[in-house]
Amino acid sequence: MVSLTINGQKVEVEPGTTILQAAEKLGISIPTFCYDPELTLVGACRICVVEVEKARTLIASCCTPAAEGMVVHTDSERVHEARRENLSLLVANHPPECLTCEKTGSCRLQDYCYQYRVEKSDYKGEMKEHPLDDSNPFYIRDMNKCILCGLCVRKCYEINGAAAIDFINRGFDAKITPAFDEPMENSPCVFCGMCVDACPVGALTPRQSIGRGRQWELTTVKTICPYCGTGCGIELLVKDDEVVGVRGDTSNPVNRGQVCVKGHFGIDFLHSPERLTRPLVRKNGELVETSWDEALNVVAEKMKGAQGTELAGLSSARVTNEENYLFQKLLRMRGTNSIDHCARL
Ligand code: SF4
Ligand code: SF4
Ligand code: SF4
Ligand code: FES
Repeated sequence: MVSLTINGQKVEVEPGTTILQAAEKLGISIPTFCYDPELTLVGACRICVVEVEKARTLIASCCTPAAEGMVVHTDSERVHEARRENLSLLVANHPPECLTCEKTGSCRLQDYCYQYRVEKSDYKGEMKEHPLDDSNPFYIRDMNKCILCGLCVRKCYEINGAAAIDFINRGFDAKITPAFDEPMENSPCVFCGMCVDACPVGALTPRQSIGRGRQWELTTVKTICPYCGTGCGIELLVKDDEVVGVRGDTSNPVNRGQVCVKGHFGIDFLHSPERLTRPLVRKNGELVETSWDEALNVVAEKMKGAQGTELAGLSSARVTNEENYLFQKLLRMRGTNSIDHCARL
């Protein structure tokens, strides 16, 4: 074990643990933009800098391993000054749109500016003027709000494997975009929305949430995606009994926060007026609404005495394993192997 001192408190950690993780173990919070425990460490944004005694410069805590005997200060005046400077540089080239930005309330740039009292920037200069990319039905990209942390690029490459986006250009002109600066629609993007969940600011906005509630008005309901048998954990963002957004549940061991386009952006059927909420039976060639009792009676009547090839069953990846097990058991007991389900959708 490696032992070090952070803000006067001693802590022991496994070799290879970063200073940031050691601080987390003590309950000490350090701001981050480009860090994500699921992704490679890049040390790009430097908002996580801390002071290490006897070190020449401030150290990026997210990518520096803790060393034996280290004495670390995460909240010294020198550290705060560096973070204020960093934020001031970001704000210098950031649209002042917090009033209407969907991210207000869960934006890390906004939160850290509040925490370190950065009200405006001392730097004056050119502002970015990238056009909005709203070429797809799922999310809008506003690269004027992007702080170039690169989380979206690494999520897309390292977790999804689509590699749909990357940095282009250098310096002031750097931005995140698909190859040849094409719109997302023309890229290999599969619209999983992982980049949207990862973005610490309001550069990537899910369309389904626009104008439907401030972050602090939303309650979070953990549930399982209803689309396929993988059973990814999702979090529904709910306002006034209406689902206004979805994100992957990072605490769910099945998907650890990752979801596909269906789970992320396809939940709008919940409130669709076309949604079937009652069973249908065919009467005189027409499907008509009926009660569950009648529907089940019809099925039971038709199944009576039917055997083997007279029967086939269509189940669903959207019900539980136990229900599917019972369903196939029931059908096989009647001598048929003709059982399928909806995962071919
Ligand atoms: S991204 Fe954050 S800081 Fe920028 S306008 Fe939106 S809420 Fe404000
Ligand atoms: S939506 Fe998914 S595939 Fe598309 S850029 Fe974002 S992470 Fe990559
Ligand atoms: S779009 Fe968001 S996640 Fe991607 S680099 Fe910009 S700020 Fe970071
Ligand atoms: S969070 Fe450490 S350098 Fe970005």
